[in-house]
Order: sequence, then structure tokens, then C-alpha cells
Amino acid sequence: MKILVIGSGGREHALVWKLKQSPLVTHLYCAPGNAGIGLDCINVDIPATDIPRLIKFATKEQIDLTVVGPEGPLVMGIVDDFQKAGLRIFGPSKKAAELEGSKKFAKETMRKANVPTADFRVFTNAAEAMSYIEEREPGDRFVIKADGLAAGKGVVVCSNNDDARDAIKRMLLQREFGDAGLRIVVEDRLEGEEASLLAFVDGNTIVPLEAAQDHKAAFDGDTGPNTGGMGAYSPTPIITSDIIDNVVEKILVPVVHEMNKEGRPFRGCLYAGLMLTNQGPKVLEFNVRLGDPETQAVLMRLKSDLAQILYAAADGKLDQIEPLEWDPRPSLCVVMASGGYPGEYEKGMPIRGLEEAALVPETKVFHAGTRRSGDQIVNDGGRVLGVTAIGETISDAKLRAYQAVKCIRWDGAWCRKDISDKANRY
Ligand code: AMP
Ligand code: GLY
Repeated sequence: MKILVIGSGGREHALVWKLKQSPLVTHLYCAPGNAGIGLDCINVDIPATDIPRLIKFATKEQIDLTVVGPEGPLVMGIVDDFQKAGLRIFGPSKKAAELEGSKKFAKETMRKANVPTADFRVFTNAAEAMSYIEEREPGDRFVIKADGLAAGKGVVVCSNNDDARDAIKRMLLQREFGDAGLRIVVEDRLEGEEASLLAFVDGNTIVPLEAAQDHKAAFDGDTGPNTGGMGAYSPTPIITSDIIDNVVEKILVPVVHEMNKEGRPFRGCLYAGLMLTNQGPKVLEFNVRLGDPETQAVLMRLKSDLAQILYAAADGKLDQIEPLEWDPRPSLCVVMASGGYPGEYEKGMPIRGLEEAALVPETKVFHAGTRRSGDQIVNDGGRVLGVTAIGETISDAKLRAYQAVKCIRWDGAWCRKDISDKANRY
């Protein structure tokens, strides 16, 4: 089987690493990939959003299955275009990808499907949004979200009404998020612990993966600005198998059903970002792809053949695969970032110590923002590496991952030191 993975981050490196282990896979490519991905498969120098060139490549190389990592090409309609060209691809159609591409669509779908989520209103007019906030009880807290894709930055969690007014102004009047913020969702702020549950879906059959917990805040103790994710671990003690069953029954099944009803069958990875509230799990957001860095931690534990699963999902045949097999041992991923991330940072710093880190047992250094420069590997993005380890206990996994982290250095490199400590609170 010839497989093409699309994307260039840590998630895509984990996908490539796992797919490469499949005896079914004979050829493995990644477009555009990164320095680390290039060591595990063949990088193809085509950007993830250049759909016509990707189709040309997949046709010429007779790719049997394309796996899309990031949301950008999915929301653009890469799946529809590949299918029109007669190519098999894992991911949702453009119409199904709206679950991530439009917060308004996602919230309205949840409302129709009776899925637990925060109450919300949609606005395009700033004055109306402001008066809605004024009319609510004084203690109510809000989250203001740009409707469209905003690279994870379009969500403002507000502590008071001044913050909320400011966010409304920035989105609707100052157009800080461009077209993505011309329409906003104002939703009630939920309290609780966050976790991610991902599932492979083929339009009908839903196969949940083991749960993971991301660390979205930049600094230790969940402080500092929001990031793409500074680390993850799996499984998480807060998501028991009962909760997984509950999420499948109350959230995933109704949404997949509703999407079918609307003529937007969902195929691909459905990612539910959850808040575990006093009233049970509620959906914060849906993503229509695998999470980053959840994928790095979760795939390290998957024993089943990923190529076989994704191939079946793309063909609507997930009901024909064996139940997923998992390594019961916990895993954890520590993201190493560039100095200044999630703000401005410098690129092009040589990364040292990767060979030494590779010697730490049961550990894999997934590359995210890296590229080759001569015979060196240099940082080329905010999140640079996802150092991922598995261990008998979560503490063992943590020890290993940080042992590998210690080997690696470049100017400005930093990471959170407390990945997975949340697990010990339970
Ligand atoms: P989203 O992209 O919608 O998941 O939002 C990004 C982050 O904002 C989430 O991971 C949460 O930490 C936070 N968030 C989003 N919606 C809410 C909400 N209704 N209540 C509290 N926090 C939220
Ligand atoms: N880890 C968060 C995301 O992938 O969106």
C-alpha cells in the first residue's frame, strides 16, 4: 500500500512513524513533512494547501490512501477534490469539516442533536453582542469565539465583562481575526477539567481512541497564554471507560447521526474537546482531525495496524476491523518550543543532542517545526519537537521523556516541566 500523509507537524510525524510499522505499507510519503519526518519516510515538497499539486502527485505515484493531518486543507475541500479525482483519502468532506471550520455551525449542530454544550448566541453586530452580555446576570462569565478558523487564537476566555466587551470589539469592530471574526459565538463559560476524546468515524461506525489530556497553557501550573498544546498524556484518569461510553452515546452518536441527516456524512477523525463539568461532559469544540500533541501520546500506545484502520475508515468499512488493541502502559509527550513562543520567536537555530536523545529507551522524538539546513537540523516553528515516551507508570514515562528532553538543546529552547502532573491529582 502506498500512503501519502499531508502536513508538517508533530501529529504528522507520529502518523508517519506509526504507519511505517504496518506490514501493509510499501511506500510512505509526507507533503511537505519536516526534518524528522524526512528520516522516517520520503518528504514531498508540496505545501499542505496546494491541492491541485497534491492530486497530481497522488495520481502519478498511484497512492492508495492519503491521510490529511491539519484542518486547513480539510476545510478547503481536499477530500472532495481527491475523491473527484478517484483517489482514496481519509478525512471529512468540505461540508462535514464545517464542524471545525465554523463554530456557529458546530454549535447549531450540537443544539439540534441535543448534545451537551455551553449555551450560546451568535452575533455579527457588536452593539447587540454587548447588550446581550449586559442583560445577563452580573456573575455570568463568557467565552467569545471567532466563527472561522483562526489558528487556535480566535477564542477568548473572559474573567469579567470588560474582557468580554474588549474581545467583541477586537473581533467585530477592529477585525483582528479578519473574515474569521466577522461573526462571533458568545457562549457561557464552563468550569471543570478538560480532556480530549478522538474517534475514527466512517459515516456510521464510531471507533473511539483512548482519551488524552492536552496542556494548552504555555507555562507550568496551566498559567500564561494559550498555545497549540505544550504536552499531552494518555490515558487520563479523569476519563474512565464509563465516561468514554457516555461521550460516545450522548455526544458522538447524536452528532454523527445529525450530520448524516443534514447530508454531510462524517468520515475521518472526530475530536471532541470536552469539559468535565458537575453536570457531566460537555463539548467545548469539535475538531475534524487528529489532535496535536494528543496524537503523539495516543499513537504511541496503539498496537493495531493504523494503515488498515484508516483504509477501512476511508472506505466506510470500520465495522469490519478488529477492536483496537492498546498498550496498557501510559504515554506522555513533552513539547519543546522556540524561545518566545506563542509570541514572536527566532528560527534557524541549530538543534543539538538529537542522537543522544534517541538512545533513551521507549522514547521517540517527534519533529514539528524543524527543517534541514546543510547537515544540521534547525528550528523552523513555534512548537519544535514532541518528546514522547511510554513507561510502566506515568511517572516512568515522564522520567524518560524529560531525560530525553535534557539531551536536546538550541538557543531559546524551553518546555513545560509539569506535563502529566495533573494525572496525580486523582
Ligand atoms: P476551543 O478552540 O473552542 O476549544 O477553545 C479553546 C480553549 O478555550 C479550550 O480548550 C478551553 O480551554 C477554552 N474554552 C472554550 N470554550 C469554553 C467554555 N465554554 N468555557 C470555558 N472554557 C472554554
Ligand atoms: N491539541 C489541540 C488541537 O489539536 O487542537
